[in-house]
Amino acid sequence: MTRSSTPSTPIDLRSDTVTRPGPAMREAMASAEVGDDIYGEDPTAKALEARAAEVLGKEAALFVSSGTMGNQLALLIHCRPGDDVVIGEDAHCKLYESGAGGAIAGVQFTQAGRGGFFDVAELEAAIYPTAAYYMPRTRLVALENTHNRGGGTVWPVAQAEAVADRARALGLATHLDGARIWNAAVATGRSAAELAAPFDTVTACLSKGLGAPVGSVLAGSRAAMEEARRFRKMLGGAMRQVGVLCAAGLYALEHHRARLADDHANARRLAEGVATLDGCAVDLATVQTNLVMIDVADAPAFADAMRARGVLVSPFGPQRIRAVTHLDVSRDDIDAAIEAAREVTRG
Ligand SMILES: Cc1ncc(COP(=O)(O)O)c(C=O)c1O
Repeated sequence: MTRSSTPSTPIDLRSDTVTRPGPAMREAMASAEVGDDIYGEDPTAKALEARAAEVLGKEAALFVSSGTMGNQLALLIHCRPGDDVVIGEDAHCKLYESGAGGAIAGVQFTQAGRGGFFDVAELEAAIYPTAAYYMPRTRLVALENTHNRGGGTVWPVAQAEAVADRARALGLATHLDGARIWNAAVATGRSAAELAAPFDTVTACLSKGLGAPVGSVLAGSRAAMEEARRFRKMLGGAMRQVGVLCAAGLYALEHHRARLADDHANARRLAEGVATLDGCAVDLATVQTNLVMIDVADAPAFADAMRARGVLVSPFGPQRIRAVTHLDVSRDDIDAAIEAAREVTRG
């Protein structure tokens, strides 16, 4: 079964970034009170930053154009050129940010553990001995929660706390790439503030599952955010009447966090549906939030065949497909996507 009613509007499972602002969010944007934020005069930017700081349990927050900018500002404020950053395998800040860590902050990365996760022993093994001046200086430990390449997998709360505590005891700074921290919060039943608490800084995206058209926040201490504000300006990320965008972020924070549970249920439904098909393999244990990794014989061919049936998915490797649920995808859409996959695998 394909979606015969709206052939021109595909079911878009490529990413949770494809959402479009609905009427209420657009209304909030249109009526936002604004001013010049570089003069510190945008009340809506201030309101978003105050609310984001509160929700993330930090002293202050800064609105940034993207998750990438949030992560890069964190590297800049915590590190100096030549420093080493310990990350999980295939971390976004190393793999998907155009090499910015090396190019802008001048850092290098050491991967610890497997699949995006590591424990205290693996952290310790990844740290350069500080005694030797000719070695890189390990300066920062960065975790990603949920983990994108791992399929939206969630850090066990106690493990994240233990790693961050050990890092702090070793004198290292800590950053959480919480692009999808809101999904991790729903999946664990913990607040975003609790999940961010062990870390000096946290990046959280407004433009993914929360459905804002643009933007992320970086949160941390007041002093760290003042430092980040300076670097944001250096990168060209300071904006003028940015309250138009922040209004969407505020709306998203207030209205779209709890509903992520629906996306998680839809992801599970999709995963369980396609797992029954010959030619599709899904590790159901990794389906913890809104991302589903589907292993197929030929990912580009599978994606093309799905597209022909009105369903968009992303090849995530030669034999891996990523499908992502979000607020513009209904349960009926999921059922239609499963049917499309059934047709494709039947050949
Ligand atoms: C884990 C993670 N961190 C950071 C980012 C970067 O966000 P942006 O696309 O807003 O730069 C993403 C984007 O997909 C992500 O998945």
